[in-house]
Amino acid sequence: PVATMKDYFKNDFTIGAAIPVSHVNGADPKADSIVTLHYNSIVAENCMKCEKIHPEENVYFWDDADAFVKYGTDRGMEIIGHTLLWHSQLAPWFAKDSLGNNVSADVLKQRMKDHITTVMTRYKGKIHGWDVVNEAILDDGSYRKSPFYEIIGEEFIPLAFQYAHEADPDAELYLNDFSMSVPGKRDAYVKLIKDLKARGLRIDGIGMQSHIGMDYPNMEDYEKSIVEFANTGVNVMMTELDMSALPTVQMGANISDSVAFNAMRNPYPDGLPAEVSAHWNARMDSVMNLYRKHSDVITRITFWGTQDGMSWKNDFPMHGRTDYPLPFDREYNLKPFMQNMINGE
Ligand code: XIL
Repeated sequence: PVATMKDYFKNDFTIGAAIPVSHVNGADPKADSIVTLHYNSIVAENCMKCEKIHPEENVYFWDDADAFVKYGTDRGMEIIGHTLLWHSQLAPWFAKDSLGNNVSADVLKQRMKDHITTVMTRYKGKIHGWDVVNEAILDDGSYRKSPFYEIIGEEFIPLAFQYAHEADPDAELYLNDFSMSVPGKRDAYVKLIKDLKARGLRIDGIGMQSHIGMDYPNMEDYEKSIVEFANTGVNVMMTELDMSALPTVQMGANISDSVAFNAMRNPYPDGLPAEVSAHWNARMDSVMNLYRKHSDVITRITFWGTQDGMSWKNDFPMHGRTDYPLPFDREYNLKPFMQNMINGE
C-alpha cells in the first residue's frame, strides 16, 4: 500500500489542504485524487470569504461554499471555515453606508452579528472550527487599522467570538495570522488570547498561517511562538503552510528597469536549480520535524494548496511568478522531503 500523509501523521495532527472552487466542482480530478488519498482536513481557499459569500447586504451566495462543505462531508474530512472577519476580501458594502461613508459602530456590530450568525448557522454541525478573526494584529503588536478596528475599536474581536459561539456552540473558534514568529506580534496574540479567556469567551486555537520562506522565520523564533501560544492553553495550528522557493521580495517592491524586474519576479526561468530544490526540501524536513516535536500541542497542519501550479504564491507578492511552495510538484508528485518522511527513509 502507498504511504499517505494522513496515515503517517495520524497520531500527531490532521493534514489539511486549502481547496479552490475548481477542485470541488470536478475540474481537477488529479487534485481530487491526491487530496482524497493524503489529507483528512480541508479549508476553503476563497469561497467562504465575505466578498464571495456575502457580496451585498442581505445577499448570500452559497453555491460554492455548499459544494465545498459537501465535498468534505462526503469524504469524512475535518472541515475548517475560513474566515468570518477579515479586512481583506471584505465585501465593499460591509462597513459603508449608501453614500460610501463608514457606518456607525452599532450598525457594524449588527452586520457582523448577522454575517457570522447566518454563515455559521448554515453549516452548523458540519464545520469543525472557524477562523473567526483573521490578521487583526501588525508585526509591532498594534491593532491593524481595519474598518472593524477603526469603527468599533479593540472590542470587535471579543464581540466576534461571542457572536460566533452563540451561532454554533459546538464549533471550535480560532484567531489566525501570518508572521507569528515576530516577537511583537507573538506577545500581542498571547495577551489577546489571555484577554478573551479572562472574559470567559471560547477560543480553541491559534492559527499560525506559516507562509514561510527560505530565510524566514528562523527556527528558534518559530518554536518560541509555538511554545508560548500553547502555554496559554489553546491548540496551535499551522493553517496556511507554504514555503516560497524564491528569494524574498519585499511587499510593494517596484523596480523600474524591466530586466531587473523580471529577474526578481522569475529568478529561475529554466526551472528550479537542483541545489535550491535540495535546500528547500531540507528546510521543509526541518519544519515538519519541528511540528512533530510539538505534536502534543499542534493539532493540524494545513498546506495552502496541494500542487505548486495552483499556489497563490505564483501571484504574490508579484504577478507572473513561478514558485514551488507546496508538497506536490506541478506533475502532482509528492516531493522528496515528504516522500522520504512517510516512507520512513
Ligand atoms: C489568498 C488566496 O490563496 C488567493 O487565491 C486570493 O486571491 C487571496 O487570498 N492569508 C489568508 C488567505 O488568510 O485567505 C490568503 O489566501 C493568503 C494569505
